[in-house]
Amino acid sequence: PLSAMEQEDAIRQELGSLHGIPLYKSFIEGWPQVKAFQARPDDLLISTYPKSGTTWLSEIMDMIYHDGDVEKCRRDAIYNRVPFLELKAPQEPSGVEQLENTPSPRLVKTHLPVQLLPTSFWEKDCKIIYMARNPKDVAISYYYFHQMAKIHHDPGTKAEFLENFMAGKVPYGSWYDHVRGWWEKKKEKKILYLFYEDMKKDPRQEVQKILQFLGKELAEGIVERILHHTSFQEMKKNPAANYETVLPILMDHSISPFLRKGIAGDWKNHFTVAQNERFDQHYQELMAGSDLHFQME
Ligand code: A3P
Repeated sequence: PLSAMEQEDAIRQELGSLHGIPLYKSFIEGWPQVKAFQARPDDLLISTYPKSGTTWLSEIMDMIYHDGDVEKCRRDAIYNRVPFLELKAPQEPSGVEQLENTPSPRLVKTHLPVQLLPTSFWEKDCKIIYMARNPKDVAISYYYFHQMAKIHHDPGTKAEFLENFMAGKVPYGSWYDHVRGWWEKKKEKKILYLFYEDMKKDPRQEVQKILQFLGKELAEGIVERILHHTSFQEMKKNPAANYETVLPILMDHSISPFLRKGIAGDWKNHFTVAQNERFDQHYQELMAGSDLHFQME
């Protein structure tokens, strides 16, 4: 048997480059299958930059798809109910394999930048929901995720990680390019573009937006149940939603739980004044000329 350290070494992934985007090497190995993925017309794609509320939106979508039936939504862990398209790890079924065995209508999760999305999703004209979150909270959430999810190397200090985040030297590359790329695509394709901060402020209104996008109606009581079941407190204690069923060698929730804080503006507890000024200036430069705006708290 492998020692604990040998196990960790086997799990940790170097980052390679997929068409210029930093990505885990195992994911890059699986890329040919992802590129050739056959979407179905009734697939719904949940697309996000990491740490932007993917799991939250996934749970909401599964609840909507099951008319608010809480028991049905406990049938499996969220990462199996909503397979992760580009996931590829040794000795595990890949995201593509999982999806091939999933009956329609499928919910599909991806973090791919818009230019790398398999073309089949466009050809089949699939519905897409993108969720974006302000970059300061994403960076902090990603920092803790690097510590707890053992696929990653040690992120170093917060200051070091912030620099890497701003430079796009993290898995999935530049947050700025990601949110802008999907935002521009929205102007020509069927994409519902949501914000984490809006979902925090008025989840009922955002769920109504989703229902309208889907052309689906649900009774008020069912919407109420969905909102309750997908609240941070409920999801945090739900083993089918909180990732605690992942092998402990892959995720260590004692370092930082997957559902960590679940608020907007936590960056204020982490950024120094100088870091915040530097971040703001860099943000202005990279987001210049865009009509995409973020609420930082
Ligand atoms: P924090 O680390 O800031 O707490 P993803 O699912 O894309 O990896 O995003 C994870 C982030 O979403 C974490 O942010 C997590 O706590 C937050 N999150 C998950 N479920 C949530 C919910 N129901 N309400 C609010 N935030 C949630």
